[in-house]
Amino acid sequence: MSSIERAMEHGGQQVQAKPQPKINEPPASPAVPPASPNVDFPDEVCHLNLEFLERQGYLTPKLARSQLAEEYRMIKRPLLINAFGRGAAPVERGNLIMVTSALPGEGKTFTSMNLAMSMAMERDNTVLLVDSDVVKPTLTRMLGLDSRQGLIDALLDPQMDLADIIVKPDLPNLRILPAGRTHAHSTELLASTQMRNMATELAERYPDRVVIFDAPPLLATSEASVVARLAGQIMVVVEEGRTPQQAVLDALAQLDNQKVIGMILNKDRRILSNDYYGGYYGSYGQQ
Ligand SMILES: Nc1ncnc2c1ncn2[C@@H]1O[C@H](COP(=O)(O)OP(=O)(O)O)[C@@H](O)[C@H]1O
Ligand SMILES: [Mg+2]
Repeated sequence: MSSIERAMEHGGQQVQAKPQPKINEPPASPAVPPASPNVDFPDEVCHLNLEFLERQGYLTPKLARSQLAEEYRMIKRPLLINAFGRGAAPVERGNLIMVTSALPGEGKTFTSMNLAMSMAMERDNTVLLVDSDVVKPTLTRMLGLDSRQGLIDALLDPQMDLADIIVKPDLPNLRILPAGRTHAHSTELLASTQMRNMATELAERYPDRVVIFDAPPLLATSEASVVARLAGQIMVVVEEGRTPQQAVLDALAQLDNQKVIGMILNKDRRILSNDYYGGYYGSYGQQ
């Protein structure tokens, strides 16, 4: 029995006779010990708990005709044009997209997951969602992938084949690379040659694939600006009514203005309070 199934049993959930690992059912109680890293998993397809995601307000295939889905269509369109060189000017590593913000809690994980879901749902391309917020891997935890090997393990072991650790959910076109084990020197690992090589491999080995990095906040960590150097396109999430203007300016100042930089205004309360419209505005352009 895998540690995920054990965690589910502890949480009082039913384990099927022929269990399929659930990938986003977090342990129900803090009494459940965190699953240990470095567990080897066979080449399996994982069940993506879409009801759970929907309850958290995320985009799922059931919401394909919703306002939220429409907003993500608008946000992803220019990203996809740049990713595959269909824009006016070619964008180097345009298929590597980083989602960041100035501060924690502004909606980076929410945005990354929804963008990936939108692209996978509409089969634009294969999408690889990478949890590069290795210090606070919310995405990995939300999807119940704590026990999986991931980005940090791959950086520590150059022999490791990424294909062996990338998670395949039961949603065609979506792949997930969890954060992996925690490590005291994660910044150095993200800044390493190995990380640059991995980014190059991801950009070139799968030219028809979009890679979305759910990244740390720019002003609270040094990891974020390191990841920013690797990506061709950067989306900066700004929380409406909360992120101070100076914080946004300071965050933008950390980015290379030769890159394609987009801004997303998130959690607009005036909009969230109206049912007819969701919580996102996307604006986009070269700085
Ligand atoms: N547009 C939104 N509508 C509703 N909830 C949101 C929205 N954006 C973020 N959230 C919620 O706010 C919290 C923080 O978002 P998260 O994406 O984890 O932030 P970050 O990754 O920037 O730290 C989460 O509980 C998330 O589900
Ligand atoms: Mg996050």
